[in-house]
Formats: sequence, structure tokens, C-alpha cells
Amino acid sequence: MNSMPALRNRYRFIDRAPAVSDACNDILAGLSQPRKCISPRFFYDDTGSALFEEITRQPEYYPTRTERQLLHAHAGDIAAALPSDCTLLEPGAGSCEKVRLLLDDIRPACYVPMDIAGGFLCQAADSLCREYPWLPVTAIAAEFNQFSAVDEAVPARNRVVFYPGSTLGNFSPQAATTFLSGIRTVLGEDGHLLIGVDMHKDADVLNAAYNDRAGITARFNLNALAHINRVAQADFDLDDFEHLAFYNCDQRRIEMHLRCRRAHRARCAGQHLDFAAGETIHTEYSHKYTVASFKQLVKEAGLAVTRQWQDDKGWFSVFLCQPA
Ligand code: AVJ
Repeated sequence: MNSMPALRNRYRFIDRAPAVSDACNDILAGLSQPRKCISPRFFYDDTGSALFEEITRQPEYYPTRTERQLLHAHAGDIAAALPSDCTLLEPGAGSCEKVRLLLDDIRPACYVPMDIAGGFLCQAADSLCREYPWLPVTAIAAEFNQFSAVDEAVPARNRVVFYPGSTLGNFSPQAATTFLSGIRTVLGEDGHLLIGVDMHKDADVLNAAYNDRAGITARFNLNALAHINRVAQADFDLDDFEHLAFYNCDQRRIEMHLRCRRAHRARCAGQHLDFAAGETIHTEYSHKYTVASFKQLVKEAGLAVTRQWQDDKGWFSVFLCQPA
């Protein structure tokens, strides 16, 4: 007799995703400012997440490839620097792709991916469980900075926060400090932060990375408006906007904007919004760091860099940080 169902590793799921009405308020607040802006989180609907994956495969977009090489090459070294039986937390985990480069070496007691896109996250958690039957997974649908759910879900000891992809670059320096301070609290006294950071470099390299010849980054940028059309009952005509991305050397950041080709009015979440020809909507910052500026940043959040891995060109770094 063989009627017993196969025992399957199942993940736990905790849903703390914010309501849709929050999104509409967020959109209207940004588009009502004198200098209009859209939060980069509106890039990531299903189409946008797929476009971002495509960006990472473009020849000009070096960060993902470089970071993956670093994680792959130094996985053993990284694991040796971490406590055994750690709880591995990943804010903004998305497809849970990068952690696969580390799991066999780190062998965490538990993996906790967090992401705003709950549906996408559950799919990712499910396939991860199939691939790593030994790994307990607790998936949390929440904003990237909403760590309150973590305390109920996992033990306080030996926490390791994994924050790859240079996503930190999206924050202004002040917001980055606030975010890192939140991580510092989650870590307690014995925790570690493993973080991937894109470095300041030649402007030509950076400008090319955000203006790929195939135009994928342009589609990714414009898709924020398509996403907003759906979630906020808006009627933006994507043909009226164009992609604009450039490296601001003084501020050491890529700036992405959507530039309005002609004057027009759009409806959005029950309101009218007016756009002048040439006006821009700011959609993203991607701050780049030097080793010194990154060390200074984490210091302000009560952390210190204890290890660091970098590629030959010094284009990307993986830092290990601990409470100072
Ligand atoms: C996912 C925020 C790290 O800043 O390079 C890629 C997003 N924007 N191309 C980045 C992005 C345009 C990416 N991050």
C-alpha cells in the first residue's frame, strides 16, 4: 500500500501587505508636488519585474552579473564569517534568485524572504522549498522596511540580513540611514548585514548601464505609468512620455525621469493632473558609493564594515557589516 502523500517541505506565509488605497494616496502625493515624482516601487508589477530581469541580462547593465560573480566566488568565505544556524532575512527578496548562490554554504536554520509582491513571493518560496527540502522558509508579504512582522516570526538570535542588488541606492542618503538603522535594530547585538553596493565609477559606464541600446530600461521606466493606470484608474498616455536617465556626478547618483513630450492633462485616482511640455516626473535615484562614503553611511546607523569583497575593476562591492 502506498497511499501516503509525499511529505513536502511547506513554507509559512505571513501577509502584511499594505492596502491598495495606500498606493493611490502615495501616487497622488508624489504627482501633486511642484517637482512631480513617482516612487520606484511602482516599477514592480508583474510586467515591471519581468522587465527588470531583462535589464539584468543587457550587456551594458553590469551590476547584477558582477554581484553574482562575487557571491559565487566568495560564498565559502562569506559563510565562514557568519554564525552557524543563522536566520537569514532578505528584504525585497523578489524571485529569491541570488540567495541560491549562498544557501549551500551558509546552511541557515531558516530563510525569511520579504517582499511587497505577495503573489510573486509565494511562487518563489514554493520553488525554493522544492529545491532545498532541508530549508525552513517563512515568507512575509510586507513593505521592505516593515520589520515588525519579523519579531513574531523568527528567533532574535543570529540574524543575518541579506540585502543584495544595490537596492540601497534607491534611497536618499538620509532615508538610507533610516533604513539601515531599522536593520541595526532587527540585528540585535549578534547580527550581521550582508549587503551588495554599486560603486561610483566612470560616468560613461554608468550612463550606458541605464540607457541600454535595446531600450529595456526605457520600457521599464515607462511601465511605472502603465502600472499606475491600473492601480489608480489613471489614463496616462505612455506615448506622451520619454525615458531620461543620467549620472549626476556631484551627487553620485543615477537619476531616472519620465519627460513629458507635450502638454497634457491626465486623470488619476479621481483627480486631474496637468503636465507642461518638457516637464519631468522623477522616478528613481540609484546612488553609487565609494568605500569611504559607504563606511560613513553605515556608521551613522550604528554599524561597521567588518569584511568586504570587490571585483577587479572595483565596480561592485559586497560588504559584511556588524553592530559597531
Ligand atoms: C534594483 C534599484 C538596484 O538601481 O540599478 C535598473 C533598478 N533601474 N535600471 C538599479 C534599475 C534602472 C536597480 N535596482
